[in-house]
Amino acid sequence: MVQAQAAGPGPAAVDSILDVDAVTLQYKTREHLITATYRVSFQVFPSDRFVLLGPSGCGKSTLLKGVAGYLKPAEGEMRLKGQAITKPGPDRVMVFQEFDQLLPWKTVKQNITFALLNGGRCQTKAQAEAIALEYIHKVKLDRFVDTYPHMLSGGMKQRVAIARGMAMEPDILLMDEPFAALDALTRRQMQEELLQLWEDTHFTVLFVTHSIEEALIIGSRVLVLSPHPGQVKAELNAHHLEHTNVGDETFAALQKRIHDMLFADRILEEEAAPHV
Ligand SMILES: Nc1ncnc2c1ncn2[C@@H]1O[C@H](COP(=O)(O)OP(=O)(O)OP(=O)(O)O)[C@@H](O)[C@H]1O
Ligand SMILES: [Mg+2]
Repeated sequence: MVQAQAAGPGPAAVDSILDVDAVTLQYKTREHLITATYRVSFQVFPSDRFVLLGPSGCGKSTLLKGVAGYLKPAEGEMRLKGQAITKPGPDRVMVFQEFDQLLPWKTVKQNITFALLNGGRCQTKAQAEAIALEYIHKVKLDRFVDTYPHMLSGGMKQRVAIARGMAMEPDILLMDEPFAALDALTRRQMQEELLQLWEDTHFTVLFVTHSIEEALIIGSRVLVLSPHPGQVKAELNAHHLEHTNVGDETFAALQKRIHDMLFADRILEEEAAPHV
C-alpha cells in the first residue's frame, strides 16, 4: 500500500531535485519553428512521483528530453540539484515505452552490468554483478538472469529496463509512458510493482502518461498540460490515490476535473485557427 506523502516542501523546506523554470522548448525544422512547450514551470522534490499528464503532442516527451539534457530550452532554465542542465548524464536515466531499449546481444544481467560499468557507477565487474542481481530480484526476474531480451515478454523487458534504470541510482528516474504498449492486465500489474519498488527505496521519478487514471494511480503530484503547445493547466495532489481507489467518489471527481480541463481546451482548439 502506498503511504501518504507530503506534496512539495513542508514547513521545513526541502531542497528540490529538479527545477523547471519557465521553459519553452522548440524544434527548428527547415520550414517550421515548432513550439512544443511554452513557459512550463514545475519543481520535483526528493521521493516525488511526479507525473506529466497531457494529450498527445503537448510536449511531454520533449520535456523529458530537455531534463535528460538532449534539448536546450529556447527560454527559461532547467536545473538539477541547483546546477543548470546542459548535457546528458548518469544522474538522469530514462525508461522508454519501446520494448527494444535493451541491448539484444546481452543477457538480462549483462544489460544491467554494462550500464553500471559504462555509467561509472561501478569500477569492477563483481561489484556490478552484485548490484545487477539485487535489482533483478527486486523486479522478480531471478529465473531470467542469463536470458536474452528476445526470449522475454514485453512486460518482462520493461521490468529489465526499470531494474537497469534503478540500479544506476540516478537522482531522478525519467519514465516516458513505460507501460503504454502493454496489455491492460500487465499494465496494471506493472503499475502496482512500480509503486511497490517505490515503497522499498523511495526513488524520485518523473513519469509521463496521457492516461488520467494512470496519472492518479502512479503520481503523488500531477502536472496537467494543455494541448500543443504544452502549458501548465494545473498541479494536483494525488498522493492519497491508488488502484484500490479507482471508481471511488474522490477518484472519479478528480478524474472528471482533469478530463474537463483537457476537454475545455479541445473545444477552444477547434474554434481557434489552426497553428503550428
Ligand atoms: N524531432 C522533432 N522534430 C520536430 N518536431 C517534433 C519533434 N519531436 C516532437 N515534435 C513536435 O513537438 C510537439 C510535442 O511532441 P512530443 O513528442 O513531446 O509530445 P508528447 O506529449 O510526448 O505526445 P505523445 O503523447 O503522443 O507521446 C509535437 O507537435 C511534435 O510534432
Ligand atoms: Mg511522448
